[in-house]
Amino acid sequence: MSTWWTAVRWLHLVAMAFFVGGQLFLAAVVVPALRGAETRPQLRTVARRFGAGTLVAIGVLIATGAAMAGHYRLWSDGTLHVKLALVALVGVLVVWHMRRPQLHALEGLIFLGSLAIVWLGVTIAH
Ligand code: HEM
Repeated sequence: MSTWWTAVRWLHLVAMAFFVGGQLFLAAVVVPALRGAETRPQLRTVARRFGAGTLVAIGVLIATGAAMAGHYRLWSDGTLHVKLALVALVGVLVVWHMRRPQLHALEGLIFLGSLAIVWLGVTIAH
C-alpha cells in the first residue's frame, strides 16, 4: 500500500474520530459537567462549535471516502451503498439537529447512525 493511500485512510479515520469521539465526549463529559441553568450559554457555545466542526469532518469523510472508493473500485459494493445512504441520512439529521437543538431524540439517532456507519466502514476496509 502506498504512503499516499495510507495518508488518505488516515485522514478518513481522523475525521471519523472527531465526529464519533466528539459525540461520546459531549454525552459523557461536557453535558454532565455543564448541566444546569447557569452554564446553559457555555453548553450552547460548545454544541454550536462542535456542530460546525462536524460539518467539516463530514466534508473530509466524503472527500477521502470518495477517493478510496474510486481507488479500491468499491463504487459497486452494496455495503458501500448502504453506508452512503446512512451518511446522507445522518447528514440530514445533523443539519436538522443544528436548527432544532431542543429535539433530543435526534442526538440519539445521529449517534446510532454514526456507529452503524463505522461498522460498515470497517466491513469494507482493506
Ligand atoms: C460519517 C461518515 C463516515 C464515517 C464515520 C466513516 C467511517 C469509516 C471507517 C471507520 C472506515 C474503516 C477504515 C479502516 O479500517 O481502514 C471507513 C472505510 C471506508 N470508507 Fe468511510 N466513513 C464515512 C463516510 C464515507 C463516505 C462518504 C465514503 C464514500 C464516498 C466512504 C468510503 C469509504 C471506503 C471506500 C472505505 C474503505 C477503504 C478501504 O478499502 O480500506 N466513507 N470509513
